[in-house]
Amino acid sequence: MKALYLYFGLLINTCFIYFFPTWEKPISQAKEIHADTTLYGFGRAVTQSEIDKIDIDVSPSGRGLPQGKGMAIEGKKIFEAKCVACHGIGGTGGLGGALVTTNDPKIKKKEKTIGNYWPHATTVFDYVRRAMPFNQPGSLSNQEVYHLTAYLLHANGIIDEKKTIDAQTLPKIEMPNHKAFVPDDRTGGPIIR
Ligand code: HEC
Repeated sequence: MKALYLYFGLLINTCFIYFFPTWEKPISQAKEIHADTTLYGFGRAVTQSEIDKIDIDVSPSGRGLPQGKGMAIEGKKIFEAKCVACHGIGGTGGLGGALVTTNDPKIKKKEKTIGNYWPHATTVFDYVRRAMPFNQPGSLSNQEVYHLTAYLLHANGIIDEKKTIDAQTLPKIEMPNHKAFVPDDRTGGPIIR
């Protein structure tokens, strides 16, 4: 009986693969499947500008950073208009948590901040652009994000007030806690990249 089930199972499987050959296509061909609007009889090919809107990741090497530049003095104005309500004056704490490391002796338990915790300066750009302001993510222009990044780095004592940051200089900024992060270079198991 078991053998019979197995036989029918295999038969059904073979029929599916035969009649729906696209299910068997490797991932490398997925682009063509998406572009083929006749396949399911609806939808259309995605445009490059639609892809660009969501393809916003920035890596620690700086890959993905857009054109533009930022200065702390400009970022301060934007921060006061769009961020201060949740992160407090100077970013030292509020509903949304502290972004700036404070030396205030009254604060016993120090929160993890950009200054005392984050390993890469580029993550400030990436995170703010994709997630902030909390109530309106995606609303900031690249220019505003550059200014805000410069402001937050300066407020944490990492860069000078007059320093301009851009796609070349931002990845080169060394974060205070960078060395505490150890790359996982163990070998022996399945390599996933
Ligand atoms: C409506 C409230 C609100 C506003 C306005 C807001 N934030 Fe936030 N922010 C949050 C909350 C809540 C979190 C924590 C989110 C989480 O952990 O998922 C956060 C997290 C962050 C973090 C990460 C902190 C960390 O160390 O994990 C950064 C950086 C940040 N906000 C920057 C900004 C900037 C810059 C602005 C202004 C453009 C802004 N936020 C405006 C509420 C807000």
